[in-house]
Amino acid sequence: MKLFLDTANLEEIRTIKKWGVLAGCTTNPSLLAKEHADWEVQMKEVCAEVDGPVSLETTSTGADDLYEEGLRLAGVAPNAVVKVAMTPDGLEAGKRLIGQGIPVNVTLTFSPAQAILAAEIGATYVSPFIGRIDDVGADGLYALREICEIFEVQGYDTLVLAASLRHPMHVVEAARAGADVATMPFSVFSQLVKHPLTDIGLEKFMSDWKKLQQELKEGA
Ligand code: E4P
Repeated sequence: MKLFLDTANLEEIRTIKKWGVLAGCTTNPSLLAKEHADWEVQMKEVCAEVDGPVSLETTSTGADDLYEEGLRLAGVAPNAVVKVAMTPDGLEAGKRLIGQGIPVNVTLTFSPAQAILAAEIGATYVSPFIGRIDDVGADGLYALREICEIFEVQGYDTLVLAASLRHPMHVVEAARAGADVATMPFSVFSQLVKHPLTDIGLEKFMSDWKKLQQELKEGA
């Protein structure tokens, strides 16, 4: 499972990139709004910083405008992936963009039925929003497991991009379900690396090592 960062923040991207695990990035209008910058410049900078696909979301309404905007977004950088929402217009525009050889990520997907539609138009990615399904009292991981199972049975090429992941267990369970990609905010990425026993173990190793150095110094 590839790990993507869900952000439009360059510092966050640079930090996780250093770990050697960053395979791509997803952005959305809310994340870009948080940067309070010229969104077009920001999109370009994000694409330049990430060695992998970067999803850029359309904000137009109507299939024709979504298609035109998708063409523009695809031109932002060679690694741009155009995000369209799971709506009839999004599907129509997405299908046309795919016809032009543009990779498409169908976002705001909440059910297996919707995911099937994304696969049938030939999207590169479908993004089920796990945390937001949980937010309304349903089971996001259950939906993800169903989608992964259907895609396996049907042999769909569309990659399942588990999105709206809120904590490390969402990531672990997405991997168990067979998701192709997990996109997560910086906070969840940071939590993945942490374990109290690692901290305790490291502290003990360091203090024992210091003691040994002291002993050797005193014995010399
Ligand atoms: C993915 O592409 C979305 O940007 C993202 O995962 C949404 O997450 P949220 O529900 O935490 O806003």
